[in-house]
Amino acid sequence: MEAEMLKTLPRHTCNWLKGRLTVYKYQNLWTFPHFVEAIASAQQSFKARPSDVFLCSFPKSGTTWLKALVFAITTRDKFDTISNSPLLTNLPHNCLPFLEKQLEQIVANQKNNLNTMHVATHLPYNCLPQSILASNCKMVYIYRNVKDVMVSYYHFAREIAKLSIEDAPFEEAFDDFCQGITLGGSYWDHILGYWKASLEKPETILLLKYEDMKKEPTANVKRLADFIGCPFTIEEEKADVMENIIKLCSFENLSNLQVNQSGCSNGVLAIENRLYFRKAKDGDWKNYFTDELIEKIDKLIDEKLGATGLVLK
Ligand code: A3P
Repeated sequence: MEAEMLKTLPRHTCNWLKGRLTVYKYQNLWTFPHFVEAIASAQQSFKARPSDVFLCSFPKSGTTWLKALVFAITTRDKFDTISNSPLLTNLPHNCLPFLEKQLEQIVANQKNNLNTMHVATHLPYNCLPQSILASNCKMVYIYRNVKDVMVSYYHFAREIAKLSIEDAPFEEAFDDFCQGITLGGSYWDHILGYWKASLEKPETILLLKYEDMKKEPTANVKRLADFIGCPFTIEEEKADVMENIIKLCSFENLSNLQVNQSGCSNGVLAIENRLYFRKAKDGDWKNYFTDELIEKIDKLIDEKLGATGLVLK
C-alpha cells in the first residue's frame, strides 16, 4: 500500500545531501517515505482522549529536552532523578513515544488504561489527527530561533546521510529549508499553525520558547508542570524536586550519559543517539551564515512572521 501511495506523491531528492535523502510531499508536508503511511494511519485511526497531552515541535527545536522534562515531571513519584530514572539509561525519545513513529505502542498504552498519555509529534497543526483537535487535548509547542534550527537540522540531516561538512554545503541546505523541504515541512507553516491555534485556544496550547527555557529554566519548567496538570507542591519545591529535574534533563547532564553518547536506535533509520545532542548553543548560527544568508533569512522572517510578534532573530 505504501508503494502505491508514494507513486502518487511529489518527491524531492536533496542535492545538498548528494541524493542520499529523498522526501515525499504528503498534505503539504515533506517527509520520509516510511512516515507517509504512518501519518496517514494516525490521521485515520488514532482516537485521542481529552486527557492526552501532546508535545509538538518542528524538528531540532528542543523536542528531546521537552520529552525528557515531561517524562521526569510526570513520573517523579515513581523514579528519582539520581538513582533510578529511566532517563539515566535511555534516550529521552525512548521514554516518551512519537505519534507518527510509535502508533501501535500508543494504542496499546491506551488499552492498558493509562490515564493520561504524553505523546510527541512533529506533525504540523493542520496534519494532526482530527480526534486530537475534537477532544480539545492540551498541547505544548516548543519553538526555537529559526537560524539555530536551520544549523541544527543541517548537521542532523548531514550526519544521517553520512556526509562531511565539506561535502554538504550549508548554503544549499539553506535553500531547501527556506522552501520547506525538510523532515518537518515548512518551518513557517509549522510555527504559524500552532501560534494561530494558541491565540484561538490559549487554554489548550502552551507555547514555550527554547531560548527562554535556557535563560529561565525554573519559571518555564514550573509553567510546563502547571499546564500539563502536574504542578510542584510547595514541599516539593522546598525539597528541590523541580531543580533536580532541571539538572537531570539539562544538556550538560544528558549529553554526558553513556547511553546518549554511544547508543543507537534500531528503527527504520538507525540514528545514533549522540546526534540528538550536539552543542545546544544559542547563536551557533553565526558560524554558518554569510552576510548574504543573514539578509535573506531576516527578510523571510519579517515577511512570514512580522505580524505575529514572535521574535526569532
Ligand atoms: P543543536 O544542534 O543546536 O546543538 P531536537 O531535540 O528537537 O531534535 O533538537 C535538537 C537540539 O536540541 C540540538 O541543538 C541539541 O543539542 C539540543 N538539545 C538536546 N538536548 C537538550 C537539552 N537537554 N537541553 C537543551 N538543548 C538540548
